[in-house]
Amino acid sequence: MSGILLADDEPAFQRLTGAWLRGLGHDVRVVGDGDAARAAFAEAPADLVLLDLAMPPHHDPEAGLALIASFAPAPVIVMTGHADHALALKAIDAGAWDFLAKPVDPDILRIVVARAMERAGLARELAALKARDTGAEDMGLIGTTPVMAALRDLIRRVAPTRLPVLVLGPSGTGKELVARALHYASPRADRKLVPVHCGAIPPELLESELFGHLKGSFTGATSDRPGLVETAAGGTLFLDEIGEMPAVMQVKLLRFLADGSFQPVGARAPRAADVRIVAATHRDLAACVADGSFREDLYYRLKGVVLRTPSLDERPGDVPLLASVFLRRASNGMGQFTPDALGWLTTRRWPGNVRELRAAVECAAALAPQSATGVDVGATDLAFAVGDPVADLPTIGTPQTLEEEIAALEYRRITETLARTGHNHTHTARHLGLSRVGLLKKLDRMGLR
Ligand SMILES: Nc1ncnc2c1ncn2[C@@H]1O[C@H](COP(=O)(O)OP(=O)(O)OP(=O)(O)O)[C@@H](O)[C@H]1O
Ligand SMILES: [Mg+2]
Repeated sequence: MSGILLADDEPAFQRLTGAWLRGLGHDVRVVGDGDAARAAFAEAPADLVLLDLAMPPHHDPEAGLALIASFAPAPVIVMTGHADHALALKAIDAGAWDFLAKPVDPDILRIVVARAMERAGLARELAALKARDTGAEDMGLIGTTPVMAALRDLIRRVAPTRLPVLVLGPSGTGKELVARALHYASPRADRKLVPVHCGAIPPELLESELFGHLKGSFTGATSDRPGLVETAAGGTLFLDEIGEMPAVMQVKLLRFLADGSFQPVGARAPRAADVRIVAATHRDLAACVADGSFREDLYYRLKGVVLRTPSLDERPGDVPLLASVFLRRASNGMGQFTPDALGWLTTRRWPGNVRELRAAVECAAALAPQSATGVDVGATDLAFAVGDPVADLPTIGTPQTLEEEIAALEYRRITETLARTGHNHTHTARHLGLSRVGLLKKLDRMGLR
């Protein structure tokens, strides 16, 4: 976002006012009609819009009023030669920041512009603050393990840039959350984040969905319709399941990525939109390139930066935290895991990753018995929730004494490490600082051999 967009059809006014504003140090773009103003704003939003109400093709102030909303959230200063009180009120009612009668007094223009720019600056700061509040820390990306800390750090560093981001990782690992975190930690946070599920839209509709269409361009196109790319102007377009994008669309997307231009279905001239691209897939895109199902040139365009979301296998240490947060949310803060439940959660493998863990906890919380202090979710509830055989559960009682508590902790550490090492005794012993014999003795005692 930068500068002033001046929309007026009189060449003399364009020239003089443009020069005056530039002289005050503003960056000014000039357009001569309403459609051009809308297109210029979509291509690159402005901090402030100076809008003549009666421009071609209608020269009708009412049509000008209808334009005002399309520049949100930038303040719009309306100017017109047909100044009258009623029109001024209508303009303010339609969302204008201020109203100036022509001929515009340069000194008044300077003051009004300065105040509007100040407000635009404040609005941006507020949006940035809000974004920081709900930003990467709190964007729902839970995890304190080093891989998650590194991911968060990358998000923070990449978010302010315009680089396209490719988010890769197994299913259920939070790729969509990463896309959201990127958007809300970026200077585009006050604009839209528009998700597109490339696999869910029928291939024949995808082009019109993305790039829009003109009235009559195909059967059923009864009016002009902007595409998601235009909706996302100034913001972020999240291309989810990019690996599912049909080959014909890959070419068109490539062009858009290369120069920001696209062609609505049925349009003769290309249009432009300033959009930040984040794409995601659980597929191995490099393999898709190798087998010819994904264009190599598009692949390289998309991976300005690659962010990888780790599977839960790579960060078992986050399982208890994730589970506790999901339980807290599912039980309005009135739930707890029994110690055997925590042991079970950290021992089990989670092929469906966070999505599976979350569903398991939510289901178990709904089914578990209520006690005076809320719901007590035990290992059996969880095993039942994921469809694991309940009979095989190792049983350890709720610890009462310090000794029992230590035993429970020991049990948890050992089972968790066994799971991580694929039940390799030598590696498990090394991780825990035990001798192999020492570990085997403990396993015997716990009935885990
Ligand atoms: N780090 C995380 N912290 C909190 N919740 C998470 C995290 N990762 C994933 N989730 C939750 O897990 C579920 C799946 O996440 P998401 O939809 O982002 O996964 P995905 O990687 O896009 O999966 P897919 O490839 O199947 O689309 C969501 O409910 C999400 O809120
Ligand atoms: Mg997803």
